[in-house]
Amino acid sequence: MAPYHPPTGGRAGKLRLDFNENTVGCSPKVIEFLKQQINAPALTIYPEYEAARNDLAQFFGVAENEMALTNGTDEAIQVLVNTYVDDGQEVLILKPSYAMYRFYSELAGAEVKEIAYRRPDLSFPLDELLEAITPGTRAVMIANPNNPTGTGTGIAGIRRILERADSAAVLIDEAYFEFCGVTALPLLGEYPNLFVSRTFSKVYGMAAMRLGCLFSQTANVAHLRKAQSPYSVNTLAALAARAAIRDTAYVERYVADVLAARDAIAAGLDRLGLKHFPSQANFVLFEAGERAIPIRDELRRRGVLVRDRSYEIDGCVRVTAGTPEQAERFLKELESIL
Ligand SMILES: Cc1ncc(COP(=O)(O)O)c(C=O)c1O
Repeated sequence: MAPYHPPTGGRAGKLRLDFNENTVGCSPKVIEFLKQQINAPALTIYPEYEAARNDLAQFFGVAENEMALTNGTDEAIQVLVNTYVDDGQEVLILKPSYAMYRFYSELAGAEVKEIAYRRPDLSFPLDELLEAITPGTRAVMIANPNNPTGTGTGIAGIRRILERADSAAVLIDEAYFEFCGVTALPLLGEYPNLFVSRTFSKVYGMAAMRLGCLFSQTANVAHLRKAQSPYSVNTLAALAARAAIRDTAYVERYVADVLAARDAIAAGLDRLGLKHFPSQANFVLFEAGERAIPIRDELRRRGVLVRDRSYEIDGCVRVTAGTPEQAERFLKELESIL
């Protein structure tokens, strides 16, 4: 296996438009709640999840036993693979997509098959994916919308995948749901092979906490929990999530900011003559050609972090949309570099 080394060093204090995190931080109410709740007994005892499970299940509109709390989406992916995929069995993923699908599949000894996003617009390759699914496919993992392309797919297509891949676990990773509003969660009752994940790492601004949720039908969740460490989610993350979901106004305001920033970035890139791809998430992928890496490096020197993706899509750079002011700073620096 190739090791996965995210470039995470030395980011504090810079304008972080490189990891699609929340660029202003979590709700202040989360910090207040944690301050109230942290004390010696809370840290001494092993985590108890009942209150968090209650609150989160209600928030997401599912039954408690249709949901597993996970240590980020990453653990959701790992538990899903460990539960449903044996050595040598086939996992279908898209290319390019979130690196952890391949990582955990390879770790489990699976045979990974990749379907390429369509060129030139990087749209979702529905027909190609449907064609690739066989009775031997054990898992299909899709980010909707996708990272790093930003492109998404509709529910009608997801239904066709679920119907065709009826002997596979189909994961719809909705890490960027709040920026697009498309969700497969209401399909849970209809499809016993559907798994949906959500995270607190993006819009909620809690990437350091490592908390995700994995949803599926009750019988599946019982299997998933067997393959999961009983305490993989720490107490503080479970507490923070309860406060985060209560502050809906904070999330709504941030989403509105991101959508305005995303439009501003798209318009700015147009003005600069740089091709970009239609995004339904909190980032924009654009083409800088030969200049992708020099642009990334020069932006970093000026205190603005973006992510080079040219190793997987020729000449492409990904920039996170935060607030309109942050978008303006990015565009100003980019224009001056160009
Ligand atoms: C598609 C996708 N899923 C999940 C995540 C985040 O995972 P986690 O919840 O483990 O922080 C990311 C972050 O980059 C992502 O792009």
